[in-house]
Amino acid sequence: MSLRYLTAGETHGPQLTAIIEGLPSHLPLDFEALNFELARRQKGYGRGRRMQIEKDTAQIAGGVRHGYTTGAPVALIVENNDWKHWQKIMNIEPMEGTDEEKRRVHRPRPGHADLNGGLKYNHKDLRNVLERSSARETAIRVAVGAVAKQFLEHFGIRIAGHVIRIGEIEAPPHNLPLSELARVTEASSVRVADSETEKKMEAYIDKIKEEGDSIGGIVECIVEGVPVGLGSHAQYDRKLDGRIAQAVMSINAFKGVEIGIGFEAGTIPGSQVHDEIVYTKERGYHRSTNRLGGFEGGMTNGMPLVVRGVMKPIPTLYKPLQSVDIDTKEAFAAQVERSDACAVPAASVVLEHVVAWEVAKAFLEKFGGDSIQEIERNVQGYLAQLEEY
Ligand SMILES: Cc1cc2nc3c(=O)[nH]c(=O)nc-3n(C[C@H](O)[C@H](O)[C@H](O)COP(=O)(O)O)c2cc1C
Repeated sequence: MSLRYLTAGETHGPQLTAIIEGLPSHLPLDFEALNFELARRQKGYGRGRRMQIEKDTAQIAGGVRHGYTTGAPVALIVENNDWKHWQKIMNIEPMEGTDEEKRRVHRPRPGHADLNGGLKYNHKDLRNVLERSSARETAIRVAVGAVAKQFLEHFGIRIAGHVIRIGEIEAPPHNLPLSELARVTEASSVRVADSETEKKMEAYIDKIKEEGDSIGGIVECIVEGVPVGLGSHAQYDRKLDGRIAQAVMSINAFKGVEIGIGFEAGTIPGSQVHDEIVYTKERGYHRSTNRLGGFEGGMTNGMPLVVRGVMKPIPTLYKPLQSVDIDTKEAFAAQVERSDACAVPAASVVLEHVVAWEVAKAFLEKFGGDSIQEIERNVQGYLAQLEEY
């Protein structure tokens, strides 16, 4: 069965919900680890007040018994603590009251889904768009990805994400092993490995915030332990690099994606781009470099996957940008309620989880089975085949 999920829920509604279908039975789930991932998404220098209101934890409302998946759909719930302040405004029952009482939104924010969604769904209250387009939804995507991460860890596949750039401050390259990178960046307020860069990024975010502005950046995710042959060259929608690119672009505010050296590949000769193939008895076939980020022909090549995404600055600004009121059609300068100045560190956590999901999905397609034991047998058979090759 192929793996899939759907999410539902609004930013000021009672909860976010996800249903995951296609997980095998007998996957042990570590609930603490799952909640740890949710807490990681909430951290980061430059976040606004909402993250202080929410203390995200996931409840499991189906598909798990005595610590293991049963093979039934897994239902996940993340409650919104803020809901208690919004019960009337977000009530599903019809509501009498003024626009003010309903917190009706009629002034679309540039860079957000407000106006497009209002026009498309014929809403005169743009709150009906804003509530769902909010990046609060990434909380439940992290919960879903955390389950995928645990599935991958069971098969020795590990993931770490970190921040490469915030605005004009770039982190220097590092040579840390994956586990060390994860440990060091976890202790950093901006999820960078280098403490000098951390200080510079904090100061830069402060400056941007003082100016009433917002700032984006670049985040990277590395996946190790992925066997050769996930994805396929044989059909456009089976190419795993393409699927990962779609998933990354679906994260709120992400405007670009790179695999390996990415766009740089268009600026240097082929001899400096392609990774030479070598063979040793211990490692089998591998590449002497990893400039292509673990993909050739839409398939994994056994090298670590390296995926980068660029996040634009958050559209809700204290510094007003011009927009048009949908009631009066008059120009106004968009004012702000509450917003993050920089959510790039949080976005690196989201990136890890959407990539984890895509890799887990491709892994299950390759080694498909209804129980963990069946998948283990399939993996063993394939690894034996690779050894003989
Ligand atoms: C972790 C994270 C936090 C975000 N926080 C905010 C925020 O506080 N205010 C805001 O206006 N946009 C925020 N965004 C971005 C918007 O959700 C996003 O720009 C919007 O949904 C429009 O979608 P698009 O930018 O992909 O076109 C955040 C994005 C991420 C990934």
